[in-house]
Amino acid sequence: MRGYLLKFNLLAVVLLLATWPAACAQDGSAAVAAGDSEVTWDQVRAIFQKRCFACHRGEQARGALDLSSVAAIRAGGSSGAAVISGKPEESLIYLLPAHLETPRMPPSGNKMPQRELDVIHGWISGGLSEKIAAVSPAAASTVVAVRTPVKRPAAAATVGKLSALTAEMVLPRNAGAKTTKPVMVRPVRQQLRPVTSLAASPTSPLIAIPDGQRVLVYDWTDLSVRQIIQFSGDVFALRFSRDGRILIAGGGIGGQSGRVTGWEVTTGEQLFSVGSEPDIVLAADISPDGRLIALGGPSRVVRIFDSVSGQLTGEQKKHTDWILDLQFSRDGLLLASGDRFGTVLVSEAATASEFAVLRGHNGPISGLHWSAESDQLITAGQDGTVRYWNLHSSRQVSQFSAGAPVLTFDKDPAGTLSLGLKSAQVAVTSADGGPLRNWALPDEVSQLVLTQDGSHTVVADATGNIQLFRNSDAQVVGEFVPPATDNR
Ligand code: HEC
Repeated sequence: MRGYLLKFNLLAVVLLLATWPAACAQDGSAAVAAGDSEVTWDQVRAIFQKRCFACHRGEQARGALDLSSVAAIRAGGSSGAAVISGKPEESLIYLLPAHLETPRMPPSGNKMPQRELDVIHGWISGGLSEKIAAVSPAAASTVVAVRTPVKRPAAAATVGKLSALTAEMVLPRNAGAKTTKPVMVRPVRQQLRPVTSLAASPTSPLIAIPDGQRVLVYDWTDLSVRQIIQFSGDVFALRFSRDGRILIAGGGIGGQSGRVTGWEVTTGEQLFSVGSEPDIVLAADISPDGRLIALGGPSRVVRIFDSVSGQLTGEQKKHTDWILDLQFSRDGLLLASGDRFGTVLVSEAATASEFAVLRGHNGPISGLHWSAESDQLITAGQDGTVRYWNLHSSRQVSQFSAGAPVLTFDKDPAGTLSLGLKSAQVAVTSADGGPLRNWALPDEVSQLVLTQDGSHTVVADATGNIQLFRNSDAQVVGEFVPPATDNR
């Protein structure tokens, strides 16, 4: 009897798969009659088509999540299962658009209408129906109303449960372990937002990572969180002072305000907060003596403040586009700033008056680093070039091609460069561009920073994963996963 049933079921499945569209068309009315509360796939698909397909369809789908078929949805995305049949409160395809988990979907704009969320919720509760209701194709793309209201979970309870910090989320992964994709539930990842900045303390094993409106300070040797610091706005820039004592964060609220705040690293105590920008701060640095704070962003003006008095000491207005990075020279006398147009300006640190204009890049500047002697500046850009400039002559002395747009880079004291590429690679090169090592990542490398001892690299990709690589063999030895917050 059991054997018979099994065979029957298998047969039914095979038949259904083979004749799926036809069967559905014929059985459409029956499906509707079977239960008024059943949400059918065509209703859900219509919503996904309208709101999600732009980014979640086919091979290039963001987060590796294709929402265009039930099978693809069941297959999940880059962080594993996207849906758990019968459990909308544990399914990312409901939690993210319902804004119960981050990253919010769609990433920008308002939350989608509640009745559409109810459809998704009902469809998951009902077991991911593959049926198509008997409606005309034209109507299928617009009909989204739920027939009977579906029950929604209490938002607070859901968030609380999912936010629980588990050991797997913070402990280093076994380096040798196979990375098989989890089939069912896994801890819901909190960090999927793009990583805007990374900073490594020059004197201790501390790594600062932005997490929305807060900064997480980790010890990379055991991946423990040492400080959680709140910031007034979203964090876009992080930097440690040269003595490792102070951490600064720049950021703000888009189109409204921007500032730079500094804290004592060991205590988390706020030391200063400078700037009242009309827009976010995208780049910030603190001078080697801790006295000056430089900032820049979409307002195109580099402003320099005294960290003690909070007074503005200089403005550099020659940038014609968003300022993306800036850095004080090692001796603290000069400040280099790079913009989205590709121009690099060097200013006198104390006054912000112009010292040199370095033209050559044709594309956004993704990073700049001074040499130890303060007479040489290294810049990299999305034009795929790395350039060396001499500050005595204010001329470019050499350049090489990285083979792909450079999105971020760091350099060790010996001059070895680690380039984070848009082609989803980290290229480690000698100072003159000679290839030393190259390792591949699943996505564009958006941020990277070397640890203070140069032994490891913290790498963030465009999907929001932040991993710890051991430089000697390019093995992933850990992952930075933020602890939960209550306020998002
Ligand atoms: C404008 C592009 C865009 C749109 C529209 C969009 N997403 Fe996303 N989605 C992303 C990106 C990018 C990611 C990767 C995570 C990140 O960088 O924040 C992502 C990730 C996800 C993930 C996590 C996948 C994983 O396994 O990591 C889910 C679930 C998701 N989106 C669901 C949706 C749903 C449902 C909609 C429609 C309501 C939607 N998204 C609309 C861009 C988009």
